[in-house]
Amino acid sequence: MVITATGERLPQVVYWGERLPLGEDLVTLHNAYAIDVTGGMLDENPNLSLSPEASRTFPGQPGLIVRSQDGTPLLPKFCFESVENGKDLTIRYRDEENGLTLTFEFITDAETHIIRSKTVLNTDNPVHLHWLAAPVVPAPQASDEMIDFTGRWCGEFQTNRTAWSPGIRYRENRTGRTGHEHFPGLIIPCSGATNTLGEAYAFHYGWSGGHRMVAEELPDGRRQIQWGHAARMEHDAATEFSTAPLYMTYSNEGMNGCALSFQRHVRDRIVTWPKPDRPRPVHYNCWEAVYFDHKLDVLCDIADRAAKLGAERFVLDDGWFGNRDDDTRALSDWEVDPRKYPDGLTPLIDHVKSLGMSFGIWFEPEMINPDSNIHRAHPDWALGAEDQLLGRQQKAINMALPEVRDFIYDRMSSILANHDIDYIKWDHNRVLPMPDAAQTRGSYRLIDRLREQFPNVEIESCASGGGRIDFGILERTQRVWLSDSNDALERLNIQHNAALFLPLSITGSHVGPRRCHTSGRIFDISFRAWVAAQRHMGFEMDPRELDDYETRVLTEVTSWWKHNRDWMEDADILRLDSHDPAVIAEQQMPRSGDRFVVFAGKAATSAQIAPRPLRLTGLNPHAMYEVNLANRLTASHLSRGMPALKDGPITVSGAYLMRYGVTLPWSFPDTMWVLEGKRL
Ligand code: DGJ
Repeated sequence: MVITATGERLPQVVYWGERLPLGEDLVTLHNAYAIDVTGGMLDENPNLSLSPEASRTFPGQPGLIVRSQDGTPLLPKFCFESVENGKDLTIRYRDEENGLTLTFEFITDAETHIIRSKTVLNTDNPVHLHWLAAPVVPAPQASDEMIDFTGRWCGEFQTNRTAWSPGIRYRENRTGRTGHEHFPGLIIPCSGATNTLGEAYAFHYGWSGGHRMVAEELPDGRRQIQWGHAARMEHDAATEFSTAPLYMTYSNEGMNGCALSFQRHVRDRIVTWPKPDRPRPVHYNCWEAVYFDHKLDVLCDIADRAAKLGAERFVLDDGWFGNRDDDTRALSDWEVDPRKYPDGLTPLIDHVKSLGMSFGIWFEPEMINPDSNIHRAHPDWALGAEDQLLGRQQKAINMALPEVRDFIYDRMSSILANHDIDYIKWDHNRVLPMPDAAQTRGSYRLIDRLREQFPNVEIESCASGGGRIDFGILERTQRVWLSDSNDALERLNIQHNAALFLPLSITGSHVGPRRCHTSGRIFDISFRAWVAAQRHMGFEMDPRELDDYETRVLTEVTSWWKHNRDWMEDADILRLDSHDPAVIAEQQMPRSGDRFVVFAGKAATSAQIAPRPLRLTGLNPHAMYEVNLANRLTASHLSRGMPALKDGPITVSGAYLMRYGVTLPWSFPDTMWVLEGKRL
């Protein structure tokens, strides 16, 4: 990334992407960047700077919109103040007249290829902030479209492709949480780029309170990308504001290059692991087995069965506290329900521990039901108007209030301190009544305080599934509940797209009930189990429903996962360019490249009769690989021929695997082929 400036003026990114030769003359690059002037233009082109200024006639969205306390718009004109350019880069600019200081920070990571940047505004007098963009960068001209993300409950990480055209692609999330609908990510592929080939640029805004993204093509053809908190979410005048970190990366190895930068950065830099050497334990979560109907003997029976299947952590979901018999009541009454647990949680925890599993527990700390003791005692603790619309019969509790945070901290820490608990499933099941940055800061503070006190407790971020997934929450948590959909087919898709940003180690995936509770569909256990085995594996069905065949398959796949997790947890997930739209495939491979596993999910019946060869990626073309179909015995009776892989392992070159591909046996829809490869 090359950042240059003219005189006193705000600097601009004049180049970013593929590394340039060391001898490149940066002054020449600066001069060469300027575009021409012709009829109908100003005499000079306003800079697309790190914070484009309205006062310099910038013809697009400005990077900062701010008002004095009496509401007068300020029109800042920043001048150079200082620069610290060591390993990291900090650039400071000052607007003396309005008393504003703008600081841009860049931290580069040579190993993960991530640039982490942010903008901070300091002011002499309190001001009202409308919009503050993280350092603004130009988007590539060699690109036809951009990919951003939408979604819904049980349908997270759907991609939107939008062609570049003059004007703005504007995403603003005003829900107050990251949301299913607005994952804060953007990929800009250069023309012709695929998962495995070509150039791509990518962004992620690490904040859980709702973001704004502007991808704008100016009348002169230049393109700018802006990220920040959703506008006007700072309610009070203040003297300091900061954006969240903006993570940026570039790849010349297709979109996978960006994906593995994000995956590695999340796993190796952002998430902190209480016990880094401990393999990710197989989870059992009781939600879809019992919902609110907690009975000690039933839960103990379920725990026995889960342990036999291979579970290593038992997570007690919603329903253990207050008088929480359904989702209309008791949120914030964080005391064990004596009707369901007359002797407290200890008997259940002891039983779980005696089976060799650890114990996790569900909370939804930022929420309150009007029908709860705490709401009756402190109606003023709820965030938003008294007559607001409820969401799942609940309100958010005001996390900006220190007394609220203290109260929740006391209740949660008392549960954690008095029980052997190593895991919290931290839920957040409604949007806020209005966007409010103070709420997100309050949530972060509470989590940070709990983590300081209980450093060995891991946290899973859940919000009706994947409603709070971002690198801000991942600085404080170790797992995301990607979706409430345990429908293996939907999950295959969601996981595939989420892998553009998320590694295996933090992405929860559970084997659901035979008939999926959120789609009504029935899938064979083999498909359900292999889809869960693509990520951090767990079970969420009632194990009492499993027949002998299902028990055998699930036990086998779980044991396969445990056998491979040591290397898979650190592997890159590379999305394959499948030339059959019915096949969704990925290759997981460690950095050493000495082995891999390919999951080829058959999401539909193909248009053509026979499977098209599936090309692999990232291999050494000159090396030989032994490739084996791990689950060849599951071939259906309608696969009547004997393609080589069905017969046994084959040994071929990396060049062949990448240029021709593997020829898989014919398969039913809703099945998965699992290919294991090792470099010889
Ligand atoms: C929503 C979550 O996504 C579910 O997994 C479950 O924990 C429920 N909340 C509990 O109310």
